[in-house]
Amino acid sequence: MDTPLGKEILRFDAVESTNDTAKELLGDRAHEGTVVVAERQVAGRGRHGRAWFSPPGGLYCSVVLSPHERDTGLLGLVAGMPVVKALRHWSVLATLKWPNDVVFRNRKIGGVLCEGVHRRDAFYVIAGIGVNTNVAVDRLPEEVRASATSVKAETGIELSNEEFLEYMLKDFEKVYKASQSNARNVLAREYMALCSTIRQRVEVATPERTVRGTAVEVTPSGALVIVDDSGGRVEVTDGSLRIL
Ligand code: ATP
Ligand code: BTN
Repeated sequence: MDTPLGKEILRFDAVESTNDTAKELLGDRAHEGTVVVAERQVAGRGRHGRAWFSPPGGLYCSVVLSPHERDTGLLGLVAGMPVVKALRHWSVLATLKWPNDVVFRNRKIGGVLCEGVHRRDAFYVIAGIGVNTNVAVDRLPEEVRASATSVKAETGIELSNEEFLEYMLKDFEKVYKASQSNARNVLAREYMALCSTIRQRVEVATPERTVRGTAVEVTPSGALVIVDDSGGRVEVTDGSLRIL
């Protein structure tokens, strides 16, 4: 990758989902490094088609990447690291909850949704990032109010989304480069250092089965290793995780 992430930023007032806008503009106005930002989304998405509520005040963006098609598993996780680093810079000691949640004191403050797309002969990953920066939690739908928080709610600070994005993108560039190098084992360790799921007792519902046990590590390919109740090591690559 030669162009810095965010050299070109496409700004919108309202979109359905910045990930969808980035996909629509691929190869035309959007290339590797382009960032799509919106003030609000009317159909923001999380994983498995769940909704990401996106009122004005939050940061909603999608970064266009063109990684090697192998190893996107780790990229989908480590894309959350710059969010945590930026939140910490703005005094919120957030952590990652495997795979893609950004949490503070068990409340969700952000999330990442990476989607792979083939366009002509090229492969892209759209890394969508949502952060509750200047969101008043009581403006979120009732169903998520108790499990959500924001920078504003935690610190009283109204920050500049532009500065937050700039800070995040600088770190994202390092993380992205590392994810494409043979330093992936180091990167997986750095992810684990920011991930509060490690060493916890968890239950993960995967498409095939439910695994219960202790989360012990994240592999360089992005799988979570769980030592289950019979002492076996199980690797899960997808699923909904609950801390027990
Ligand atoms: P998992 O832990 O498996 O990722 P999840 O419930 O966090 O499960 P996601 O798809 O990651 O599911 O995220 C979408 C969920 O996040 C929604 O179902 C909703 O509960 C919650 N959510 C949606 N918008 C917000 C928001 N702005 N702030 C905090 N939480 C939100
Ligand atoms: C999650 O927790 O499941 C991930 C939420 C990701 C939300 C961001 S907001 C910008 C981008 N556009 C979307 O529709 N989703 C991501």
